[in-house]
Amino acid sequence: MNKRSIKAVIFGAGHYGKILMRGLQKYYDVTIKTICDNDDTKWGEYIEDIQVTNPHELLCDDFDKIFICIRKGNQFRAVEAQLMEMGISKEKIVIMQRSTEYQNAFLEFDFARKNWIRCFADYTRQIGLKGNVAECGVYYGETAMFINKYWKDKVLYLCDTFEGFVDQDVMKEESDFDAFKAGSFTYSSFKVESPELIIDTVKARMLYPQNVKVYQGRFPDSVCGLEDKFSFVNLDMDLYQPQLDGLRFFWDKMEGGGGNFITRLFSSGITGGESSGCRF
Ligand SMILES: C[S@@+](CC[C@H](N)C(=O)[O-])C[C@H]1O[C@@H](n2cnc3c(N)ncnc32)[C@H](O)[C@@H]1O
Repeated sequence: MNKRSIKAVIFGAGHYGKILMRGLQKYYDVTIKTICDNDDTKWGEYIEDIQVTNPHELLCDDFDKIFICIRKGNQFRAVEAQLMEMGISKEKIVIMQRSTEYQNAFLEFDFARKNWIRCFADYTRQIGLKGNVAECGVYYGETAMFINKYWKDKVLYLCDTFEGFVDQDVMKEESDFDAFKAGSFTYSSFKVESPELIIDTVKARMLYPQNVKVYQGRFPDSVCGLEDKFSFVNLDMDLYQPQLDGLRFFWDKMEGGGGNFITRLFSSGITGGESSGCRF
């Protein structure tokens, strides 16, 4: 366990902030000075015994690190800019979504998915299943780093545009499904400032980066010609068309007993992803 002594501020009093606060407290020697949030309705509330405050009341000398714990879209960028405008140095700001140093704090986040992945990795080892592993839909590698960690002797193929959704997939989704109407997504969901930067961040988060092969571009075009066998694939591209293409692409490449984990197959807000599984 990585023990360090840090005086910390959490930025983000939502669900993500709460889980990551507990992860930081559990895996690092952190004293949480305060939790701040731009939402003034939360000011004065307590999360456990820590009060939620107005970020403008922060005193830069009172903390070593401020952890931005905001999951939705790319809002963490606006918060980073806000903090820097307030005079907080970049070295003090940790964006949890991109953090390589504090990745243990993520263990508790989406615990069911990670635990399932860990157990399935154990199972594939027990039965001696051959085949490599893959994730389609990587974003900042929050799940990929656990796949890499639990299958440390396997090649991990990572497939993503690293630039968010592809227009043709979005058009299909909009005409046939409700996710965009329901507000689960916007056109700019998963858009990033620089694909190169995100790929570097993803690689830096991996415990075994030498095992990682990145396939950048629209799936399935990006994997044209890829021939391998797989014991585990995580399909997490959210939209109907790429999820269906993923099922078609990997199906006959799976080793007997291998697993295809389709994220959000039963999500009520993400109807396209659900339909791709049913259609297949
Ligand atoms: C839900 S995020 C992935 C989250 C990630 N698995 C995690 O655990 O943090 C969806 C990702 O799918 C990618 N994506 C969506 N459609 C795609 C396509 N047709 N080809 C490649 N990547 C795609 C997006 O760029 C985005 O990064």
